[in-house]
Amino acid sequence: MHEIIVGRRPDDLEKYGKQGTGYIGKHIVGKGDEAHLTNKILLDFLRPHVILICGKRGSGKSYTGGIIAEEIASLPESFRKNLTVVMIDTMGIYWSTKVPNEDQIVLLDKWNLKPRGFKDIVKVYVPFKQKEEFQKAEIPVDFGISVPPYEFTAEDWTLAFNLPMTNPIALGLQKVVNRFHRRNEKFQINDLISEIKDDRGIDTRTKSALDNMLTVADQWGVFGTEGIRIEEIMKPGMINIFDVSRLRATEAWSVRNLLVALISREIYQKRIMARKQEELAKMGEIELKERFPMVWLMMDEAHQFCPNDTKTVSTDPILTIVKQGREPGISFVPMTQMPNKVHQDVISQSDMVIAHTLTSKADLDALHSVMQTYMMEDIQKYIDSLPKWKGASIVLDDNSERIYTLQARPRLSWHAGEAAIAKM
Ligand SMILES: Nc1ncnc2c1ncn2[C@@H]1O[C@H](COP(=O)(O)OP(=O)(O)O)[C@@H](O)[C@H]1O
Ligand SMILES: [Mg+2]
Repeated sequence: MHEIIVGRRPDDLEKYGKQGTGYIGKHIVGKGDEAHLTNKILLDFLRPHVILICGKRGSGKSYTGGIIAEEIASLPESFRKNLTVVMIDTMGIYWSTKVPNEDQIVLLDKWNLKPRGFKDIVKVYVPFKQKEEFQKAEIPVDFGISVPPYEFTAEDWTLAFNLPMTNPIALGLQKVVNRFHRRNEKFQINDLISEIKDDRGIDTRTKSALDNMLTVADQWGVFGTEGIRIEEIMKPGMINIFDVSRLRATEAWSVRNLLVALISREIYQKRIMARKQEELAKMGEIELKERFPMVWLMMDEAHQFCPNDTKTVSTDPILTIVKQGREPGISFVPMTQMPNKVHQDVISQSDMVIAHTLTSKADLDALHSVMQTYMMEDIQKYIDSLPKWKGASIVLDDNSERIYTLQARPRLSWHAGEAAIAKM
C-alpha cells in the first residue's frame, strides 16, 4: 500500500521519494462510525515548515506535537544530525518523552509499534531557581537556565511588564535601560534598581513603582548572569524541552514571553550565521566543523506568545521566524486551541494545518483564511466526517494542495498530558 507524504513539494517527491520523512499516522477513510484506517501518512522533514496544530481541549494537539518530535529524533543519522527540536512546554508534559509509553501498550501493539523512551535524546531545561522544585516533584531535569537582563532592549522590558510605551513608569525604565545599553554595560536587575534610585530625573512615586516591579521580577527565578548559551545546548538530533510550566500565575506569561523572545532571537541569529557557513562549505571555500542545526521550534499555547490582539515581547521574534525562517532553516509548530486568537501572520504563513476537532465558527474562519485554496464547505465537510477518535484530524497541506483525514499514530514515548481523573 502506498504511503501518503504530506508537506512535500512535488519536485522533492520526485527527487527524494520518502527519504527524510516521519511516520505520523494513517489515512482515515469513510465517515464517522464507518471510518477505517488505510495508508500510512508521512510528514516531510527535508524542508522547513510552519505547521499550525489546532483543536479543542483534549483533542490530541500536544500528543501530535510529541509525535513530530519523536519522528525527528528517529530519523536516520544523515538527516537527524542536521536537525534539533526546541519545545516550549507551557504545560510541563514533555519531560515524559524520556519514558517509554507502557501506558498504551495494547494500542501500540495494534499499530505494530513498540514503546520507546528517548532518555538520552531529550534534555529538559527549567528556570534555574526552580530546578530543586522540579526535582522534588521527581521530574527529571537536565539543566537550569538563566536569562541575562542586558539581552533585552528598553522596548522589550516595557512589553514584558505590559506597560503602555508612554506611561511614566515605562519612560523611567526605558531611560535607565537605554543608558546601560549606550554605555555597553552588562547589568543585572539590582543594577537597574540602584541606577533608578540615583536618577534625579525620575520622581519618587515612579521610583518606588519601578523598585517594586523590578524586585518582584528578580524573584521570578530566571534572571542571572549565565544566559542561555544556545549553541552549546542545542546539539543536533536532540529534543530540547524548555519547561516553563511552574511559574507563578501572576507573572508567568511575562517570564515565558521573555524567555521565548530570547530563545527565538538566538535561534534566528545562530541559523543566519550557520546558513552562511553552509553556503561557503557548499562552494568549497571552507570545511564545516560542528555547526548549529536547523531548528524545529514547537510551542504549546501559541496564542499566548503571539496573540492577534496585543503585542507581547515575544511577538516580533516569533514573527521574524515565521516570515523569514524558511531560508535559514527554522520550522515553527504552534499548537493552540484558539487559532483565531493567534497572530494573523502566523496563520497566513502556515503551509500546513493539522486541525483536530474544532467547534467555533471563528476558528473555522481562521483556518479558511490560511488556506484560501480550499473551499470553506470542504473544510467543514472534512471536519464533520471525522470519527470521534482521539487524535483524528484533518490536514490541510499547501504543498500538495490537498486535504487529508489523519489518525495520529500512538506515541512511542509516554504522554503526560492526560487529564486527571478521580480514580487511579
Ligand atoms: N493519536 C492518539 N492516539 C491515542 N490517544 C490519543 C491520541 N491523541 C490524543 N490521545 C489521548 O487524548 C489525550 C489528550 O490529548 P492531548 O494531546 O493532551 O490534548 P490537547 O489537545 O488538549 O493537547 C491524551 O492524553 C491521550 O490519552
Ligand atoms: Mg495540550
